[in-house]
Amino acid sequence: MPGTVVVGTQWGDEGKGKVIDLLSDHMHMVVRFQGGNNAGHTIVYDGETLKLHLIPSGILYPHIVPVIGNGVIVNPRILIEEMDNLAALDVDTGRLRISHNAHLILPYHEALDGLMEERRGGEGLGTTRRGIGPTYADKAYRVGLRMQDMLDPAVLREKVRTAVEERNRLLRCVYDAPPLDAEAVAEAYEGYARRLKPCLADTSLLIKEALRAGRNVLFEGAQGLMLDLDHGTYPFVTSSNTVAGAACAGAGVGPRDIDEVIGVTKAYVTRVGAGPFPTEQDNEIGNTMQEVGREFGTTTGRRRRCGWFDLVILRYAARLNSLTSMAVTKLDVLSGFDTLKVCVAYRHGEEVLDDFPLLSGVFAACEPIYEELPGWKSDISQARGLDDLPAEARGYLDFISSRSGVPISLVSVGPARQQTILLDGGEAPLAQGRFLFQDDLPL
Ligand code: GDP
Ligand code: IMO
Ligand code: MG
Repeated sequence: MPGTVVVGTQWGDEGKGKVIDLLSDHMHMVVRFQGGNNAGHTIVYDGETLKLHLIPSGILYPHIVPVIGNGVIVNPRILIEEMDNLAALDVDTGRLRISHNAHLILPYHEALDGLMEERRGGEGLGTTRRGIGPTYADKAYRVGLRMQDMLDPAVLREKVRTAVEERNRLLRCVYDAPPLDAEAVAEAYEGYARRLKPCLADTSLLIKEALRAGRNVLFEGAQGLMLDLDHGTYPFVTSSNTVAGAACAGAGVGPRDIDEVIGVTKAYVTRVGAGPFPTEQDNEIGNTMQEVGREFGTTTGRRRRCGWFDLVILRYAARLNSLTSMAVTKLDVLSGFDTLKVCVAYRHGEEVLDDFPLLSGVFAACEPIYEELPGWKSDISQARGLDDLPAEARGYLDFISSRSGVPISLVSVGPARQQTILLDGGEAPLAQGRFLFQDDLPL
């Protein structure tokens, strides 16, 4: 601390929302730095379930300043809906700050995302159809609209109208799709601008001031390493960088502002959408994980594909993110299996690969090499210390920690806040795991 990045180490949905909510008790600010409302982060508190797509997962704590950084793309309709839903739950969103430089998702981005997916037919990427790819593409094309265009709502109205008319030609001519009502979209965005204008801020400066004052700032990743635009399983990826390094560019801080990087790691692996997945269990085992783990997409409701834990991916995540520790989630879901398989390397033809292969053809053809560990039968969802876990569950954690070299700082055994085991470094053999909250810094 004080700068802590939390990222997913797999294909997303590792339980980042739960972990970030939990850590937020000790933070001053929580900053989203990439992605958009393709993300779905779940928090379970006091028996309530909250699903957040854009608003940072620290929002439930009144002392937290939630920040949407420049690297995020914002669908203002969804953001306002989310703010209203939170207000109905008596959660104050008045502290929310949004970067002037965050780009806007417009209805033509959503339309194009869907149309491009349909065009790909059976070869689709399985995107969330939230307009993520087209919006980041416009940003790179330098034709995007940004939050700062909302400073003058009437000017934004004109810009939106012009942009929609222009894109209508693309929708009509290339995709043979119905045009959008430019006037109606422009009017809606003028309304969004009036509502969101008070939230706009120089968020990079706000974050730096907090860090300078020695306050704890958490950078909230969305998606996970394997969905990273550069480092993931391209083209079956999202359109932003999901690695910890993206926190710097997407929040406007420097690398030396980051002290800790926590990788959220599910005790097995899931994936929503298309693309290769070596340890996938398209069988009874996967079905059990899916049912017990309630593996349905938070954003789209799609069934998540499930499979055994993959150490090749975790080691890749450790390398690309400089993980200082990991939070292992959903260990409770593995209760009941006689034995548990863990992929320790890949076989490609005659070759054994310890490292994630960059050639997509190679990765798609890899066979996992497994080691088998004994399972446990008892319910562990009430465990609050490592001593409460059966020896086999401790052995499983030790195996993935020692074989990846990543210490464990937290183990989650259920969706609720209290279903968590915090490690303080005393529990050999996970000895390097540090207690996260030892610095008693001001909030
Ligand atoms: P995120 O996108 O990484 O924030 O993860 P999601 O919220 O999309 O998906 C994780 C799901 O698992 C949510 O429904 C959580 O409530 C749930 N969850 C988180 N941690 C645990 C855990 O330790 N055990 C169980 N059974 N569920 C968990
Ligand atoms: P969180 O933050 C899991 C996946 C989609 C698709 C691919 C590209 O909740 O972990 P996109 O709409 O981004 O262009 O889709 O990425 N995907 C996610 N999968 N969790 C997410 O977010 C995801 N966000 C995008 O399913 O395969
Ligand atoms: Mg999710």
